[in-house]
Amino acid sequence: MEEPQHIIDKPRIASYAFAFDIDGVLVKGSETIPEAPEALRILNGDNKYNITVPYIFVTNGGGKTEKLRCEDLSDRLGVPVLPEQFIQGHTPMKDLAEKFNTVLVVGGVGEACRNVAHSYGFRDVVTPGDILKWNPHVSPYRTLSEDEYNNSKERDFSKVAIEAILVFADSREWASDQQIILELLMSKNGVMGTTSENHDEGPPIYFAHNDFVWSTNYKLNRIGMGALLVSISALYQEHTGRQLDKVIKFGKPNQETFAYASKVLTDWRQQSYGSFSDRHTTDESDSALTTTAATTPNSANNIVLEGEESEAEEIKEYLPSASTVYFVGDTPESDIRFANTFDKRWHSILVKTGVYQDGTEPTFKPKTICSNVLEAVKFAIEREH
Ligand code: G3P
Ligand code: MG
Repeated sequence: MEEPQHIIDKPRIASYAFAFDIDGVLVKGSETIPEAPEALRILNGDNKYNITVPYIFVTNGGGKTEKLRCEDLSDRLGVPVLPEQFIQGHTPMKDLAEKFNTVLVVGGVGEACRNVAHSYGFRDVVTPGDILKWNPHVSPYRTLSEDEYNNSKERDFSKVAIEAILVFADSREWASDQQIILELLMSKNGVMGTTSENHDEGPPIYFAHNDFVWSTNYKLNRIGMGALLVSISALYQEHTGRQLDKVIKFGKPNQETFAYASKVLTDWRQQSYGSFSDRHTTDESDSALTTTAATTPNSANNIVLEGEESEAEEIKEYLPSASTVYFVGDTPESDIRFANTFDKRWHSILVKTGVYQDGTEPTFKPKTICSNVLEAVKFAIEREH
């Protein structure tokens, strides 16, 4: 597809965009996928078309604040990554802060997930550590470390009603976390030490995502949060004879996360366009924007500053939707399904650096298969120009 040629020698912002999965596409456990930094540099303008392509990240991972994750990713990828272009499995769960007062947050390391919940505005955040500090017999074989004990909050859980269970990140302590979750699901109104008559008066449980496996730097895939859900559902059914039905799943491939990601991408593209001080023009066909700015655009620095909102609003009025969104992922069940389901303009690309095993039949068929993220970026840019 031809970009408009109004101002051919100036940096331009593409009408199309990218969204990236992270684990198995850009990183793998503690390793960075070698082709990832170059792929992002190309999108930041280091390409023969002199074009900058906006992109966002949509990961099911989590367990740290968006700010911390972005700092880590910026270091590893060598390009700026900002929270404004970044969605974790639990990011859309911030909307629940209005709904519940006291929540149990499960998963992650130390106090990190409590901090995430506070950053989302949750008022009263309980961790499994708080419960074990109150009564270690809740999980007889688990002993809190000195740090865990000191960081955990002292309170009487026989008088606290936990209104929701939020699994933000992978559990590091399956046995004790499951013991506590199961007790709460069967409790009377989320009070520890109680049991409801039909085991159905406990709080709802929210999962930041439902990935059964994920890709690390071990040769085989590892079980993840989706596996914990399978396990808890089986335990609940065995205990009660009933199906666990108060489960709400976020993350890819769920629609709520797609809607959230679409909004983040729209806002991010607006910021990218809005950062230019000079006026820019739209293509008549509504397929692309060009800019008269003389500087090379760096989308990671394109924040609309206070006082510039009115211009930004004006821009938004004629900002067309991305013509195509290339979504690069490694997991057919979450990434490809996510990109294929909700909007025909999303183009799914499956890479071979993560969960998907080359030579197998993907359960959800991608529009394109590439070896790695760099090949995916090059494919898309050539397809567009
Ligand atoms: O636990 C699964 C999670 O790490 C997957 O992350 O980036 O592949 O969606 P991502
Ligand atoms: Mg992945």
